[in-house]
Formats: sequence, C-alpha cells, structure tokens
Amino acid sequence: MAQSQFSNSANLSEIEIDHRYRLLIDAVVDYAIFMLDRVGNVASWNPGAQRAKGYTSDEIVGRHFAIFYTREDAEAGKPARLLAAAKARGRVEDEGWRVRKDGSRFWASVIITAVHDETGELIGFAKITRDLTESLRLAELERVSNDSALVQQAQENERRRIARELHDDLGQRTSALKMKLALHEMELVKYVAPDVMDRSDSIRELAEQMDGLATSIRRIASDLRPPMLDDLGLDAALDWMTGAFEKHYGVSSRFEGSIGELRLTDLAAISLYRVVQEALTNVARHAKATHATVALSIDGRNCHLSIDDDGVGLPKDWSLRPDAFGMRGMRERITQLGGALEIASRPGNGVTVSAKVPLPRITARD
Ligand SMILES: Nc1ncnc2c1ncn2[C@@H]1O[C@H](COP(=O)(O)OP(=O)(O)O)[C@@H](O)[C@H]1O
Ligand SMILES: [Mg+2]
Repeated sequence: MAQSQFSNSANLSEIEIDHRYRLLIDAVVDYAIFMLDRVGNVASWNPGAQRAKGYTSDEIVGRHFAIFYTREDAEAGKPARLLAAAKARGRVEDEGWRVRKDGSRFWASVIITAVHDETGELIGFAKITRDLTESLRLAELERVSNDSALVQQAQENERRRIARELHDDLGQRTSALKMKLALHEMELVKYVAPDVMDRSDSIRELAEQMDGLATSIRRIASDLRPPMLDDLGLDAALDWMTGAFEKHYGVSSRFEGSIGELRLTDLAAISLYRVVQEALTNVARHAKATHATVALSIDGRNCHLSIDDDGVGLPKDWSLRPDAFGMRGMRERITQLGGALEIASRPGNGVTVSAKVPLPRITARD
C-alpha cells in the first residue's frame, strides 16, 4: 500500500505539501494530479487538472469527483466502486470517458491510489488522470489508413485479375478470330476471281480492326496491371515507362538510380509505379516541359523517388482545387506506405514531386 508523507491530520486540504513537491506537481501540465478526501471530494488541484478538465482550483476543490464522470457512469455507481477498489487493493486503474467542465468528453486513463497516514488509516486518495483523446484519435487514424491500404490492395488485386482475364481470354479469342479470318481468305481466293477479291477490301479491313482490337486489349490490360512490374521489378518498369513517355509525348526523359536487390512489397511497388505514372501524365498534360527526370534510390533508411520537369510550374491556386485528384491520390498512396510526399513548384521552371518512404514499411519479407 502507498505510504503517505503527510502528517496525521484528517483534513487533506489542510496538509502542507512539501514545497518542492508542490512545485513539481504544479509544473506538470500533461497529467491531472489531484487528491480526493476519504469520501471522494476534491482536496487539491494542479494546472494539469485544470487543463484537462477545465475547472479552476476555486471552482472544484470541495466538490465530489463524481462530477468528472458521465451521467451513465455516475448513475451506475462507478466513482464509488473505483474508490472502494482503491481502498481494498491500494490502487486501481481505469480507462474511459470523462467529462470536462464545458460538458465535452475526453478519453482518460486514470490511476487512483489510496493514501494512508503513519498509523495506516485511510486519509484520502491520489488521482492521476491522463487525457488519451489525442492518442485515441491517432490510433483511429492509423486504423482508417490501414483500412484504406487494404481497400487499395484489394483494388490492385482486382485490377490484376481483370488484366489477366483481358489478356488471356479476350486476347486469345481475338487471335483465334484472326486466324479463322486468314483461313477464310485462303479459301475464298480459291473460289473467287482475283479482280473481285481485290475490289472487296472488307476482309483486310476486318483483319486491321482485329489488330486494333488486340492492341487495345493489350494496352488496357497493361494499364490495369503493368506486366513489366511483376516480371522485371520496379527499376525496369520505371525505365521502360520513362522511355515510352519520351516516345509518346516527345518530352526528352531520363530514368536514373536503382533500388538494387531490394525486394519491395507488392503494394509498395505498384504504389510507387502509379505515382510516377500520375506525375508523368501531369507533365504531359500540364507542364509544357522539354525535359523530365524520374529518379529512384535508397539509402540506409528510406526509399527516395522524384519526378522532375522543366515546364511552366504549378498554377498559384492548384492546391485549392477540390478536383485535384491526381495530386491527392499520389499523396495518399505515399502516406499509406508511411512516407511523405512533397510537391515543389518553380513558376516558369518546372515542378518536382518527391517522395520519401521508410524502408521497413515497404520491404518484402521472405
Ligand atoms: N508537372 C506539372 N506542371 C504544371 N502544372 C501541373 C503539373 N502537375 C500538376 N499540375 C497542375 O496541378 C493541377 C492538379 O493536378 P492533378 O491533381 O493531377 O489533376 P489533373 O491532372 O486531373 O488536372 C493540374 O490541373 C495542373 O494545373
Ligand atoms: Mg493529373
């Protein structure tokens, strides 16, 4: 049981607490530290208690501590139960909602310790309360972010499945159709006069349309799930993407750096890939750049990714646009990996999107 350093006075509020302890307790603002008398009336108060609960010392000393509990808890007799438990066992811990002076609630972690005089007689209780609302909120945020990572992972899995179906099923069928068409053409040549065949372009047109269809299917499938990423890894996929970007948009582009032998989680690889995809699409759509650089590297702790262009820079109001989904999506993907995304703009001289992601979060375990 906790021993007290107080004199054997029965009235707690009159006890002279050693000056140094008083200073210490008054300096604490992160914890509410106060005393209750034998029946639960507040006997002392510190600035931490005022900060957590909103009452000044004058307002609260002498009042029963049940006032800090929600009505349901108070009516269910929780305050008295906690005091009885502290009395019986020396101390009791509790976590739950408490009520501030203004009626708002906070999630509190509470320790109540019984205080005895030298003869062993109970003279009151010491109570330490900590406001955990913020950590609760952080835990909630983490849970939401984990959920959203799961959703994103599920979405990527689904994309991969559709890409495979497109490639394997539709892809095979168009190949089969094209073969059949070629066979028909060979048959027709046998029976139809050459000048009539020449006049009819329809078979060639059909064949061309089928080629177009096959190309579309391949493109859509590889947009949904870049096969390069699965087959060759992020370095090769980004190198390839940068090359294709240059060819397609005529912006001279370079990929530099490498993550070496590092094996990334599936979500990390696809997320970083998608960030580069979005950033390069933005360069093509908005930047009017002549040059773009994608850089990927690792140091002992982090993976660094940046996409840099020498275009016009961001418009002044870009962050205010509610429909900047591309930018938001990039940030969300990186945040989900536990990293941070920065967007730097040099008006008239380009944009740099850079991400830093801690390695432990994105390294695949065998
Ligand atoms: N590299 C860039 N250079 C210039 N402006 C850019 C660049 N990237 C983004 N922007 C600006 O930021 C805006 C928001 O980008 P984003 O969220 O990707 O939306 P979207 O591409 O659909 O317009 C763009 O509309 C554009 O004005
Ligand atoms: Mg965009």
